Amino acid sequence: MTEAPSVDREYDPWSPEFVADPYPVFARLRAERPVFYHEPTDQWVITRHADVDALLRDRRLGRSYLHVATHEEFGREPEPEFLKPFWDLIRAGMLDVEPPTHTRLRRLVSKAFTARMVEGLRPMIRGLAEELVGALAAKGGGDLISEVAEPLPVTVIAEMLGVPASDRHLLRPWSADICGMYELNPSPEAQRVAVRAAVEFSDYLRGLARERRAAPRDDLISALAQVVDEGDRLTEDELVGTCVLLLNAGHEATVNATGNAWWALFRNPGELERLRADHSLVPSAVEELLRYDTPAPMFERWVLEDIEVRGVAIPRGAEVALQFASANRDPDVFPDPDRLDLGRAPNPHITFGLGIHYCLGAPLARIELAESFGALLRLAPRMRLVEEPKWKPGFVLRGLQALHVEV
Ligand code: HEM
Repeated sequence: MTEAPSVDREYDPWSPEFVADPYPVFARLRAERPVFYHEPTDQWVITRHADVDALLRDRRLGRSYLHVATHEEFGREPEPEFLKPFWDLIRAGMLDVEPPTHTRLRRLVSKAFTARMVEGLRPMIRGLAEELVGALAAKGGGDLISEVAEPLPVTVIAEMLGVPASDRHLLRPWSADICGMYELNPSPEAQRVAVRAAVEFSDYLRGLARERRAAPRDDLISALAQVVDEGDRLTEDELVGTCVLLLNAGHEATVNATGNAWWALFRNPGELERLRADHSLVPSAVEELLRYDTPAPMFERWVLEDIEVRGVAIPRGAEVALQFASANRDPDVFPDPDRLDLGRAPNPHITFGLGIHYCLGAPLARIELAESFGALLRLAPRMRLVEEPKWKPGFVLRGLQALHVEV
């Protein structure tokens, strides 16, 4: 008799089947092995909401360890020299640093990237969503991803920062190449491509930042260049790193969130009809769709001091993989978690994270999703799916390749 495979072996973030539907495996992991070591990624996998929530707030973990130890002291290989331009750029932004640098950068950037400024963009975002959806409807349909989901957040963040319209086509390829490094165990080719994109992207933004420092305009790059907090300001490298972070974080997840959401709606026609009949459900529908098929399903943390999770000891120097998508389907927190319920309340999903790295762009993402949903409901009220979509290969930035619709 062959032994039944243990459920932790079914956690396979490289398999297309797992990427397409990780939820049955996550359900079993939460029940049977909520904390386990996964050798192929050298990570401790955490699947329950309470544990992911607690670890995100726990200062004994960090997105980096370089503020407390060198790579060697942490039992890790030194970084290869050829990756230096990539890491220099990434660590000049707030996402991959920890306090006190994180606190300083986040405070400075938050002074320019304010809730008021973001809310002020709503009319522009609505106009853009209507223009994109109107064009899709006028030709009877097309690919919702490349024609609406992608151009909307790319244009919004580029416009907001002040990247000239003629250069915007450069952003998406640079961003995709850089984000390739965030997949699990990136290949040498993916690493080379990411370094080249990092060099080109930072050279481009350095030029733009210098222009705006010399001749400020009414845009976020100029505001970031001028922001001063108690005599402190962003260095040029930090300004460039922040712009790259905002441009990348500012659209990658939103594109996938839009595609995953509509694919979920097409699979749940009763809920789609409910939304079509009552557009006032859009805000809670956005939250529920962000929970139901989490666009960024996993984030990692380094363990800076020995910890214990559900009786399992995880040593300093280890890495944990916090499974947001699993936490968002935890029946301890969400009744009937596999049911899409567009009116679900309360809905304490953790799609935007928690703790000090909580998504800075969450208010902007919510406006973009609500406005694109609103435009699609108003201008494409009978939109239907033409063919079953395929998933992109990556698990970390999980999204559809295309979503072909008829309007
Ligand atoms: C649906 C869309 C989005 C999702 C699901 C999302 C998700 C997240 C998550 C989970 C984090 C925290 C990562 C961690 O704790 O390791 C994060 C951080 C961040 N996000 Fe978003 N995000 C979205 C859209 C945006 C947008 C539109 C922007 C900005 C313009 C943005 C900017 C950022 C920034 C700057 C950080 C770093 C914050 C810090 O380290 O303090 N995000 N995002």
